[in-house]
Amino acid sequence: MQRIIIETPDSLSAILVGARWEAVTKLLPQGDVVIVTDANLFNLYGNRFPRFPVLKLKPGEDSKKLPVIQKLTTEMLRLGFDRTVFILAIGGGVVCDVAGFLASVYMRGVRCGYISTSLLAQVDASTGGKTGVNLGRIKNVIGTFRQPEFVICDTTMLRTLPDTEYMSGLAELIKTGLIGDRSIIDILENNQAAVLGRDRELLTDLVARSVRFKASVVAKDEKEGGIRRILNFGHTFGHAIELHQSVPHGFAVAAGMEIAARFSLEKKYIGVKVYDRIIRLLRQYGFHGEFKVTPRRVRELISHDKKKSGDMISFVFLKGIGKAEVKKLPVDEIVGFYSNFRDL
Ligand code: GLY
Repeated sequence: MQRIIIETPDSLSAILVGARWEAVTKLLPQGDVVIVTDANLFNLYGNRFPRFPVLKLKPGEDSKKLPVIQKLTTEMLRLGFDRTVFILAIGGGVVCDVAGFLASVYMRGVRCGYISTSLLAQVDASTGGKTGVNLGRIKNVIGTFRQPEFVICDTTMLRTLPDTEYMSGLAELIKTGLIGDRSIIDILENNQAAVLGRDRELLTDLVARSVRFKASVVAKDEKEGGIRRILNFGHTFGHAIELHQSVPHGFAVAAGMEIAARFSLEKKYIGVKVYDRIIRLLRQYGFHGEFKVTPRRVRELISHDKKKSGDMISFVFLKGIGKAEVKKLPVDEIVGFYSNFRDL
């Protein structure tokens, strides 16, 4: 088990990678606890949950909306919970985002911790304190920064993940390797069978590397005023693809990374060897980008991007394997590049 601390000016979040989720009982405070999970997780593990009231979400992105927060709040009030309640999220990115947001607004804020159950949540979404819900199709536009007190990343839980969700998480792992830790890329390139076989030890090592890198970034810039933006590598186009083509998040990010890598090549930030290596790795793990979204639609969709200010947008480029840099570019240039890219 590896214990990684994310320290920010006013919080300390302990990420326990490779711990067994049942150990959560040792981390919970005395007093009221409420569990937020989804119906799939409850069916798989519910009979072993600690004995506390359980609030269940419908699985999927559609639960990330304000009416769900209202419903959960009503239920918590009905159960008589006051400010001392501790919210324990057990689930993937959606559950952690919703429960974390609820914890940050219920009676102006209560304590929370997560058991993170999907690869995507373990390598990225559940650590770093971003919470939030969508407004219609605009993702995460209502949200807060709120560090959970702990996150348990039990890699044995990844065995029950549907293949698509597992692959989706691998794309975020590739992202972390490309922007910050080249050892992740080396491991993924050389251990495909063990990665796809969901080898527990290997996954614990990979998740820990990813969390360690993210912890170092979040400690420097919790509120995403600067360096934290690099964690959005592949996401500018990724979000547009996700919305337009309705593909799972990681697959859209993989396609977005392919476009961003090509843009980095055109800008001469990386050479052709590095570019080819990135594309080879994406193909090795079955990511064959489809770019159906039109440039016009890209322009519309990125108009709500949180990285945009005025006509400029912060775009993440690669400067090598394990090295990224954010540059402000006119939206026109990004859309223009994408137009050419699609014609290649
Ligand atoms: N998922 C990107 C971040 O946490 O900043």
